[in-house]
Amino acid sequence: MSTASTLARVEPSPYRSQPVSFTRRGGRLTERQQAAWDALAETYVLDVPRHGPNTSVDPSYVLDQEAVFGRRAPLVVEIGSGRGEAIVHAAQQHPELDFLGLEVYVPGVAQTLVTMRHEGVTNVRLAIVNAAEVLTTMLPEGSVHELRIWFPDPWHKKRHQKRRLVTPEFAALAARVLEPGGVWRLATDWQDYADQMLEVLAGSPDFEFTGDWSERFEGRPQTRFEGKGLAVDRDIRDLRAVRRTP
Ligand SMILES: C[S@@+](CC[C@H](N)C(=O)[O-])C[C@H]1O[C@@H](n2cnc3c(N)ncnc32)[C@H](O)[C@@H]1O
Repeated sequence: MSTASTLARVEPSPYRSQPVSFTRRGGRLTERQQAAWDALAETYVLDVPRHGPNTSVDPSYVLDQEAVFGRRAPLVVEIGSGRGEAIVHAAQQHPELDFLGLEVYVPGVAQTLVTMRHEGVTNVRLAIVNAAEVLTTMLPEGSVHELRIWFPDPWHKKRHQKRRLVTPEFAALAARVLEPGGVWRLATDWQDYADQMLEVLAGSPDFEFTGDWSERFEGRPQTRFEGKGLAVDRDIRDLRAVRRTP
């Protein structure tokens, strides 16, 4: 099993030709986080075979959901699950669903384990991975019931915008893993990024999309990041699109 500290080490990435949507991966774990990691990581954090950098995924590795969760259930994937507020809440509300959180920030993953333990939640698995690679190879085609991205890093400076996660290329990857009729939900507090998301969804041949903002998704609790946006009076935008039948 990888330890939290070996996973947090940032390695150069000779294998990546595209800029990635994250920079911060490490940081010390609190005592509580370390204790939760030691007790739970082996069960709930996937031991993903790597390919170069330690957030990468060996392209020959395909998730066996039934083996990992020990049952057959619809799969909800949350990208950038952060400290786990939303995924643990959703998993608690929906014990009949399997939840997979993809996150590169190791203390966030450890904090998610703390909350899972506190809430007695067992239908969540976490993977310390670059989500784009997971959508490209690790998840089987059409295997995801819902895909969620809450408050992705905004990369608001013009010269950094190439790092944004939600692009037309990324929409094609989302379409690859979603089942027909599967739902892609997004939320952001950054208007310029919300506009970009709207354009991406409207321009994708793979999704049915109304072309407008959607109601706040009732299953989305307020996270720290949303709180920060609200504190400076930003509008929160929710978006929802449905995977067309290919
Ligand atoms: C602004 S935070 C929001 C976290 C959480 N969704 C929330 O609302 O509190 C964005 C998160 O996405 C993660 N992230 C960014 N790019 C990622 C990627 N390619 N794969 C996995 N996680 C990523 C970051 O580490 C960070 O924790």
